[in-house]
Parts: sequence; structure tokens; C-alpha cells
Amino acid sequence: MTTTSGAGHEVAAAREAAVAETMDDIRAIEGELGVTREAVAAIRDRLLRLAARRELFPLADFPGPGPDEDRRSFLYRLAQDDDDRFALYAQRSTGAVKTPAHNHTTWAVVVGFDGQELNRFYERSDDGGVAETHQHLVEAGTGVAMLPDDLHSIHIEAPALNFHCYGLALERLDERVYFDARSHEWRVFNSVSGIREARLGRSEAQFC
Ligand SMILES: [Fe+2]
Repeated sequence: MTTTSGAGHEVAAAREAAVAETMDDIRAIEGELGVTREAVAAIRDRLLRLAARRELFPLADFPGPGPDEDRRSFLYRLAQDDDDRFALYAQRSTGAVKTPAHNHTTWAVVVGFDGQELNRFYERSDDGGVAETHQHLVEAGTGVAMLPDDLHSIHIEAPALNFHCYGLALERLDERVYFDARSHEWRVFNSVSGIREARLGRSEAQFC
């Protein structure tokens, strides 16, 4: 946990304001355009503008797991509406992190900030599995945007901080599925452990 000085608190307050403004815009984008390719592209572009404000996200405010922990990434919750819609997380990883191909059952956007996160995209194949269609290396200044049924996997090799934004909070996504290549089966993907509260004034807030 990080305890910040007065200057650190100013950064945290400015960050909270910028995040709130961003989420207001994202709500408006979805309201105007619905859940469409155009909307998620606009949401990605809006989040890229937030991520460009580098002074608001000092890496020291988002420490990753230490060497003694059995996980290699934390999700810091930066925003979430009272009804659990419009959730924004900063994912900080300290080592290799990867997922199998999965959907989200809500729209999802990933934008880069520090380090690299390879995103592989898939379509469902005729044999009931997945076939890769393309890749995108997410790093500072770039991002990817997905509709609820789109399939991707993420692959991180070295320490990174990226932003992940969803139309509904991760703990509510209890019907996401992933493809288990070993058993050639689709399984429910409901692991949401490791979320840390990063909003000011919340129970686990770390920045005041
Ligand atoms: Fe995902």
C-alpha cells in the first residue's frame, strides 16, 4: 500500500476528477451510439486521452504484487457506477500474465500506459474451438475495443500498467466463457480475485 504526501494527494484528486470526466463522456458515448463498433472505438479513443495524462498515474501509486505473492498482477478499481456499470481498472503486472481466449458479455476496451500487452483476437472455428484472426500490441498510445461476443486473449511478458474498461464490473460478469484448449471445451471464466480499491473515500483507498 502506498501512503502519499500532500503532493501525492493532489495527484490522486486530479486523477479522480479526470477519471470522473472520462467516465461521464463514456456514458454519453454509449448513450448516443449504443453498443456498436463505432461506440467502442470512441470509448477507446476517449480512454487514450485519459492515459495520455501521464502525470496522473505515477507507477508508484499502483504497485504490483511482490515476489512472495502467488499472483503476478493486481487490478486497481478506478471507477464503477453504483449499479456496477462502467467500470475502469488499472492492471499492474510484475511478470508474465496470460489468459486463454475469452469473451466479456459486455463491451470491453484495453488501452496501454506502460509496458506491452499483446492482444490476440479469435473467431469461433468450425470444430468448436477458436481460430486466431489478428493481433494488436497494446502499449502507450494504443488500444483495442471489443463488443460483448468478441474473443481475445492477453499475453504480458514484462512489467506493465494498462487500463481495462468494461460496460459492467468484472464481478458481475458471471457468464464470461473461455476456451480451454487442453480439454477443447468452453468453460465459465469468473475469476475476479486481486481487485484493489483505488477510488478516494472508499474502504481500501490508498491515496489519502
Ligand atoms: Fe478480456
